[in-house]
Amino acid sequence: MNPIVGSDGLKGRKRAHRSVQPAGRIHNFGAGPAVLPLEVVEEVAAALPNLDESGFGLLETSHRSPTFQGIINSVVERIRRVLSVPDDYEVLFLQGGASTQFYMTALNLLGKGGKADFLVTGGWSQKALKEASGVGDAFAVWDDSENGFKSVPQDGDYTIREDASYIHYTSNNTLYGTQFHHLPDSGGKPRVVDASSDICGVPIDISAHDIIYAGAQKNLGPSGVTLVILSPWALTQAKQGIPTMLDYHTHVSKGSMFNTPNTFGIYVLGRVFAWIERNGGLDGAIERNRAKAALLYGELDRSDFWRPHAHGGSRSVMNVTWRLADEDLEGVFLAAATAAGFGGLKGHQSIGGIRASMYNGCPIESVVALVGFMRDFESQHG
Ligand SMILES: Cc1ncc(COP(=O)(O)O)c(C=O)c1O
Repeated sequence: MNPIVGSDGLKGRKRAHRSVQPAGRIHNFGAGPAVLPLEVVEEVAAALPNLDESGFGLLETSHRSPTFQGIINSVVERIRRVLSVPDDYEVLFLQGGASTQFYMTALNLLGKGGKADFLVTGGWSQKALKEASGVGDAFAVWDDSENGFKSVPQDGDYTIREDASYIHYTSNNTLYGTQFHHLPDSGGKPRVVDASSDICGVPIDISAHDIIYAGAQKNLGPSGVTLVILSPWALTQAKQGIPTMLDYHTHVSKGSMFNTPNTFGIYVLGRVFAWIERNGGLDGAIERNRAKAALLYGELDRSDFWRPHAHGGSRSVMNVTWRLADEDLEGVFLAAATAAGFGGLKGHQSIGGIRASMYNGCPIESVVALVGFMRDFESQHG
């Protein structure tokens, strides 16, 4: 008998899976906004009526107050520590999501006639390329769309144009479940990375990049706040005449508070970074995420019943995608998973099948329970 899943019918299994999570929370494998550590959710709940004994509620505190200034300063410090951000880099909290950064990075770095090279490894890098094309000469030096985005390129698979100003890549492909496990060769050019779905979940060398941007809603916190880290070079490139809100200088000069920032989001980010620091820092997060991925890929490789999407060396630690050998069973699998207390497992519409997102907030217990459920499902339907 499976050690995790009871064999006494769906009702019993439901209880077995659900018992891992407190307070009726399901095992949340959603791609984002994603599950947060329960400790953080509880801290945030406690701050809602009264933030840090200030008498003001978390949602009711001015961004100009000393309380909030103290919070944003400490969040920046935590981020600098956890991600080893070089002292001369800027840390910003912007709005408009990673989607705004697709355009904003190009607008600041390129200007008319400038050139940028893109590694197109999934839907998000396609979008980034499209937005940059509206600014300058943005070109895909690698594009794997014809092969279904099952892998990321290795160095030598592409050539960066000599006159390109920078290269852009997406470190983790949320939709297809592939990920760079190396720092891509940039031909000596600055690197811009969309790290929305793996920042702070895998190793990253900030100093090897000039712009790092990431929507927070996967590994770091809630939606509505985008972490942007800029090198001095990136700032010196920022062109004249850019609309105020799209100019990085605007936000650097005002410490992310040119306009009203997402105070709630920034606070939650701070709590998530504090949680990461209490739990082994970036190394601890990396270790936990690798352990979760090893469990799930181990199960997918164990049996032909499952068909993992990503090729070996490109497999994502954060988003695991797969099909069932019998695709007609996928609907049955998803319905049974929902009934058993698992949420967010439906694959993105661009690839279908199943996707389990296992960001920092996803406890290993959820993955153990999922693997147990999968074994049980296979024994019933295999
Ligand atoms: C890698 C990646 N880039 C960009 C985005 C878009 O982010 P946003 O919705 O914050 O604009 C996502 C969202 O899932 C993503 O996974």
